[in-house]
Amino acid sequence: MSKYNANAAAVRDLVRETEVHRDVYINQEVFDLEMEHLFANTWIYVGHDSQVPNPGDYYGTAIGKQPVLMVRHSDGMVHVLYNRCPHKGTRITIDTCGNAGKFFRCPYHAWSFRTDGSLLAIPLRKGYEHTGLEQSHAIKGIAPVRHVKNYRGFVFAKMNDVGDDFEEYFGESLSTIDNMVDRSPAGRLEVAGGVLRYMHNCNWKMLVENLTDTCHPMVAHESSAGTAIEVWKKMTPGSNQKKPPAVEIYAPFMSPYEFFEKMGIRIWRNGHGHTGVHHSIHSDYSAIPGYFEKMVAAYGETRAKAILDENRHNTSYFPNFTVKGPIQATRLFKPLGPDRTLAESFTFRLVDAPDQLLERTLTYSRLINAPTSIVGHDDLEMYERAQEGLHVDANPWVNVQRLYDPAEREQETAVVNGTSEWQMRNQFRAWSKFMTMSM
Ligand code: FES
Ligand SMILES: [Fe+2]
Repeated sequence: MSKYNANAAAVRDLVRETEVHRDVYINQEVFDLEMEHLFANTWIYVGHDSQVPNPGDYYGTAIGKQPVLMVRHSDGMVHVLYNRCPHKGTRITIDTCGNAGKFFRCPYHAWSFRTDGSLLAIPLRKGYEHTGLEQSHAIKGIAPVRHVKNYRGFVFAKMNDVGDDFEEYFGESLSTIDNMVDRSPAGRLEVAGGVLRYMHNCNWKMLVENLTDTCHPMVAHESSAGTAIEVWKKMTPGSNQKKPPAVEIYAPFMSPYEFFEKMGIRIWRNGHGHTGVHHSIHSDYSAIPGYFEKMVAAYGETRAKAILDENRHNTSYFPNFTVKGPIQATRLFKPLGPDRTLAESFTFRLVDAPDQLLERTLTYSRLINAPTSIVGHDDLEMYERAQEGLHVDANPWVNVQRLYDPAEREQETAVVNGTSEWQMRNQFRAWSKFMTMSM
């Protein structure tokens, strides 16, 4: 029997002020409702427009569980189309990326479509004369996702008409994307190389929450980052030798609680937020020769300093997209089932910046986010244990209480102690809102 379907009150009851019910992580019906409502009522990151630089280029991905294509049309505009032939439903493309040329051609009966989705031609069209094809769904071509926004190269889409418009939905949180783009002396980013895909047997929200969870690195990553630091110390006893890049990246993970308390987190409405307001694990990387000079030439010294002084750690764009500005990396957590999530990591090149910056980004992604990373496995182990542990009936609630303040609900933005779980509560308040607004 259905417990949550068409029952907004039951869904709302899953989220309390300081705890959330386990069904938000393990229940198939709740997951299906997330796909139907949450992922349709919110702005979902689709891809970066540098992945489709030329007319006809396409990139296949998904919004929730809906397969979509991001495609560059002949006029240069980027469209997001549902990957479904309007004739009998066949997926138009099966590969992740490619170039369609001037049009898509369905592999089943060869109907063809312009790269904005509109119908171009039907073989043996006379068979449709006087059949009223003009009134059909099929004549409209490949259906576009209704709301698409290309924000400084980052393409987002929203499937439903309900919900906020783009600016209202993201508000001030867009400042993280701005900062990441501004870090390029040319004000442009490009996705470099492919995608690092890493399958996780856990709920997608565990990964999102983890990026605001500053009380776990020094514990869960002791075995990886902690060991790397120990090994380096043994190799260079008592010396002030410059840390090699890998140690420079690992070391801040083992910072004490105080470091994370003082870094601060910022909350924005609709579930967005970021860690690392005053400083972050990215603050103390060594300078890349020639980069600052290029930034000064592009922006002037004051502005260049302001851009580079911003060292935000993880920014979460609710529901499932995260950005690391200072290291030029993004991650998208694709929900596949209540206990299955595909994490996709992208690394970016800052156009006109020294190649060494890209090298550091790639090193970071390999060490921290890739399926071969040692740090990523620590987190995965915790998620999988939690996914299993949540089936214990003795306690159906997950606690998100750290530094709770009953007045916080009234505030739409704030900067607070970096170990607060306010950002998790903020995410679940948004979850409740966008889950139920179309029920
Ligand atoms: S299903 Fe695509 S042309 Fe028939
Ligand atoms: Fe972690």
